[in-house]
Amino acid sequence: MTIHDASTTQTSGTMVLGAMFRAVGAYPSGWRYPGAHHDPRDDTEVIKATALEAERAGLDYIFFGDWLATGPDLEFRDPYLAARIEPLSAVAFLAGVTSRIGLIATVNATYSDAYTLARISASVDRLSGGRLGLNIVTGAEPRAAANHGREAHWGNEQRYDSAEELIDALRLLWDSWGEGALVADQASGVYLDPARLHQADFVGRHHPVAGPLNVLRPLQGHVPVVHAGTSERSRALVQSRADVALVGLGPLASARQATDALRVGAAAQGRGPLRIVTPVLPILGDTLEDAWSIHDTLLSLVSVSPGPSDGREGFDSARRSLAALEDVVGLPVGRFGLDDDVDPEVAARFNDAGARLVDLAAQRSGRTPGGSRPVRWRDLLVNHLVPYAVVVGTVETVANHLQNWHQLGGVDGFNILTPYLGEQFERFTRGVVPLLKARGLFRPYYTGTTLRDHLRLPVPENLFEARVAAL
Ligand SMILES: Cc1cc2nc3c(=O)[nH]c(=O)nc-3n(C[C@H](O)[C@H](O)[C@H](O)COP(=O)(O)O)c2cc1C
Repeated sequence: MTIHDASTTQTSGTMVLGAMFRAVGAYPSGWRYPGAHHDPRDDTEVIKATALEAERAGLDYIFFGDWLATGPDLEFRDPYLAARIEPLSAVAFLAGVTSRIGLIATVNATYSDAYTLARISASVDRLSGGRLGLNIVTGAEPRAAANHGREAHWGNEQRYDSAEELIDALRLLWDSWGEGALVADQASGVYLDPARLHQADFVGRHHPVAGPLNVLRPLQGHVPVVHAGTSERSRALVQSRADVALVGLGPLASARQATDALRVGAAAQGRGPLRIVTPVLPILGDTLEDAWSIHDTLLSLVSVSPGPSDGREGFDSARRSLAALEDVVGLPVGRFGLDDDVDPEVAARFNDAGARLVDLAAQRSGRTPGGSRPVRWRDLLVNHLVPYAVVVGTVETVANHLQNWHQLGGVDGFNILTPYLGEQFERFTRGVVPLLKARGLFRPYYTGTTLRDHLRLPVPENLFEARVAAL
């Protein structure tokens, strides 16, 4: 049976807006931009200042990604991952510093223990007044295995089997304390009602766990589960278990189909509302020329590994080298310099992936082979490195982009990446957000207190009590 009606595929009304926190910037060279936050030794203050700025603007949440290894290669890949505050620690810290904004921490299911994660997440949810979200991912970093006593990083199937189990186990553990289980009546001396304290007794290959949990039920009932991934199994997990999907989407023309498919799949399994958000990286200037100038400066500051391997076996620093482009465009590129223009005759011989990269560069920077602003090898390489939608322009340009995607792409909202902190983030919170509010696309300020309130997700019934009610 195909379930496909308006109530299944509709978005959540006004848009969802979250800040994706990357301390030294989400653009590969963000940390090098003059005046940018660039030193992880000062991250504590920057985490606090960014969360407070996001909260003043009324953003739904601040979001922390995670990575379970580091190495010198990250300098040339994702410098923000090299040395950073662990996400659950960051949100626990922010629980005491902020009062309204949602706090989403990424956790890697492959290396998590269900009982420990349930304890920490229920605790942070209660400490924050019901503002925690967990982005449960399966991880793509093979070095994580050796950091957790494993011989190898599991394949996709095993990782997703484990992630699905983990979510099921967490929800049972969070429901350990039923309504009225904690009596704490001083007069009668009754502290708890054993009949309402539930054993999880979860049987599973990866996360078997007995319970009950020694933390009360989260204020949100179940901490909202976000999931970010790219594979078929990732889409299946979104439909069967996630409250929020964080997905990269292709062109706008095909986005609606992809978002509808996720919502229809979730509804077919009797799930509640699914919120879908997509990452966007705005580069904002006072004028269009100003924004392009910031973009071009960022581009020129991307440091490139000499590659192909830097002699560091096992590390992927080659990804940010000219040589890495050979595989993408399907031609030898060794004789070219990074800042050479791409000859139109050479570009004409690119394979399909290379041709797509040329289109992307034209779309993002107006540069074309042989054009008045010729495309350079550097443009192709950096566009290859930045997998997010990059929007360069004024606050109006960015607001128009978000409005289009919200109305035509079927996304509930956006995880906003900032090329560097903090001026670029303030341009978003103080420029784009007020414009979205003025257009009625974003609510004026918080109307509720929990992350579920912000995302308009209902509090789920306790699974044990739902079972009894169904008998
Ligand atoms: C927008 C986005 C953000 C992500 N953030 C993280 C992250 O912070 N940490 C992580 O381990 N994986 C993250 N992932 C997931 C990985 O990129 C990777 O896709 C996943 O762990 C492997 O699952 P897959 O095979 O389904 O892609 C993110 C994915 C997307 C689409």
